[in-house]
Amino acid sequence: MSSIFYQLFEHESSTYTYLIADPETKEAALIDPVQETVARDLKLIEELGLRLKYVLDTHVHADHITGASEIREKTQAKTAVSAAAGVQCVDIPLNHQDELYLGAQKITVLATPGHTDSCMSYVFDGKVFTGDALLIRGSGRTDFQQGSADKLYESVHQQLFTLPDSTIVYPGHDYRGQTASTIQMEKLYNPRLGMGKSKSEFIQTMSELKLAHPKKIHEAVPANLACGKQLGGRVLHPTANDGIPEVTPKNVAPVIGKVRLIDVRQPEEFNNELGHIPGAELVTLGVQLTEFLKHGDRNQEIVFICRSGGRSGQATGESLQLGYKFTANMTGGMIQWNELKLPVEKS
Ligand SMILES: [Fe+2]
Repeated sequence: MSSIFYQLFEHESSTYTYLIADPETKEAALIDPVQETVARDLKLIEELGLRLKYVLDTHVHADHITGASEIREKTQAKTAVSAAAGVQCVDIPLNHQDELYLGAQKITVLATPGHTDSCMSYVFDGKVFTGDALLIRGSGRTDFQQGSADKLYESVHQQLFTLPDSTIVYPGHDYRGQTASTIQMEKLYNPRLGMGKSKSEFIQTMSELKLAHPKKIHEAVPANLACGKQLGGRVLHPTANDGIPEVTPKNVAPVIGKVRLIDVRQPEEFNNELGHIPGAELVTLGVQLTEFLKHGDRNQEIVFICRSGGRSGQATGESLQLGYKFTANMTGGMIQWNELKLPVEKS
C-alpha cells in the first residue's frame, strides 16, 4: 500500500508539519500545522486534490501556535489531540491505541508522555510521527508542562523502540537540518535514549540541561489550549486602588498558565522559604524590569508579584506609564500567597 507524504517546515520555530494521505480516497491528515504556515499547507492540499479529514497535534506546543483552529474553520477537517491535554475545543480527544483511518490506511495513536503529560505519537504506513518525544539523536525537554524524564524514558523504550527497526522516525522539530531517522538508528545512536543508556542516566542528563523557556510559551500554551485561537478579552478583572489595578492571590491562583506572572523580587528571594508561584518569571525591579517592559507587548496580561505587594505595586505603576493596558499588582504578595497555602515552587 502506498501513501502520499510531504514533510513541511516552519523555520521560526523549526517545526515540521506533515501531510499524509491515502491516494485512493484522497483522504488526508495534517500533523502539527503551524499558524504562520496554514495558507501554504492548505494550498498544497488543494493542489494535490486531497480532502483534509484530520488535523492532529502531537501535543500542546509551547513554542508555536497550532494552525488547527484556523484549518478547521476553512475545511471540513476535525481536530484531534490527546484527551489528557484537556483541550475543550478539540473535536476528537485521543486515547492510547485509538485508530483513525484515511481510506483503508490506519493511523495508530500511541501515548508517549514525558515531554508533556499528554504527548501522542502517530504511526502510519511504516512511519512514526514522534512530536517532541523522540527527536533525531535527541529528545524533547522535560522541564515544563508536567514533563517527566522518567515517563519520557518509559514512553520511548516501551512504545517507540518496540516498533519495527525499519520504522522511519519523523520528529516534531529539528534544529540541525536533519529530516528523518529510523527506530534502529535511534536505538544505536541517540546519545540520550539509545546506546544502552539507563533510565537514571537519562534523568540525570535531563536534570542538567539548563534551557531558556521558549520565546512564545506565554502566548502559545494558552492559545493552543484553545485550539490555536488567540485569546481575546482578559482573564482577570482587577480593582483599582489609587490608579493601580489590583488582584488578590485568590484571583491569581485559578489563572496560573493563562496570564504572565512576573516576580520582581531579588534573585535570592525567588527560591527562599516563600518560594515563587509555579510558572512565574523572575524580572527584578529596577534596571532589569525597565528593560523588560520597554521591549514587551503592551497588550499582554501581566500580574506583578513580590514579597508583600509593595515593589510589585511600583512595577505595575511603571508598566502603566510605559503604555501597558492589562497589568495588575498582586496584593499581599508571596506572604499572603503562602498563608493561603497556594502552590509554590522552590528550585
Ligand atoms: Fe513541544
